[in-house]
Amino acid sequence: MLCLHSPSNPEWINNAKDNIHSILIDHAHCEKKAAANALHLIQNYPQYPQLVLEMIAIVKEEWEHFEHVYAIILQQNIQLTKDTGDSYAQQLSKNIRKSEDVKLLDLLLVDAIIEARSCERFSILSKCMSIPSYLREFYSTLLASEAGHYLTFVDLAKKFYPDEIVKSRLQQLSAIEAKIVQQLHNQPTIHG
Ligand SMILES: [Fe+2]
Ligand SMILES: [Fe+2]
Repeated sequence: MLCLHSPSNPEWINNAKDNIHSILIDHAHCEKKAAANALHLIQNYPQYPQLVLEMIAIVKEEWEHFEHVYAIILQQNIQLTKDTGDSYAQQLSKNIRKSEDVKLLDLLLVDAIIEARSCERFSILSKCMSIPSYLREFYSTLLASEAGHYLTFVDLAKKFYPDEIVKSRLQQLSAIEAKIVQQLHNQPTIHG
């Protein structure tokens, strides 16, 4: 389960499977925001070639994911509506410290944890027999990619900070994330 300290509430999938159109709309927005977030890191840390190169790769992959989800949305005649926000990601992001010496560490680790949780949710969707098989296959192809993104963000953090510092902050943030996840209301969104 990568760095995650607790599994998702088993009730989440019950609501998700009954509202798969909402899941797809939210999922499209998640992929779009993941690409935008990688661009944002390039914008703010252009002086680090390793980071810029890794983010170029992530922007491409996340944008491809967005294209795939959007193709499914069009195929299914679903109307893509405006993003209603991701309270899970917003709550977790509040823990990013502002001090410049640790801000990049927290940004990278929060991104890693969001990738890990997305990967867990995609894994749950890929095993849910109540959703169409083409969607189960779609989610099982995505989860390997998101697990790779988790590793990219953790490895990048280790390039800029000592291993022990990365490990201990990842533990702290994962514990905070587990509390946030326990208080979610099983909404039909990727991080609901
Ligand atoms: Fe993605
Ligand atoms: Fe990702």
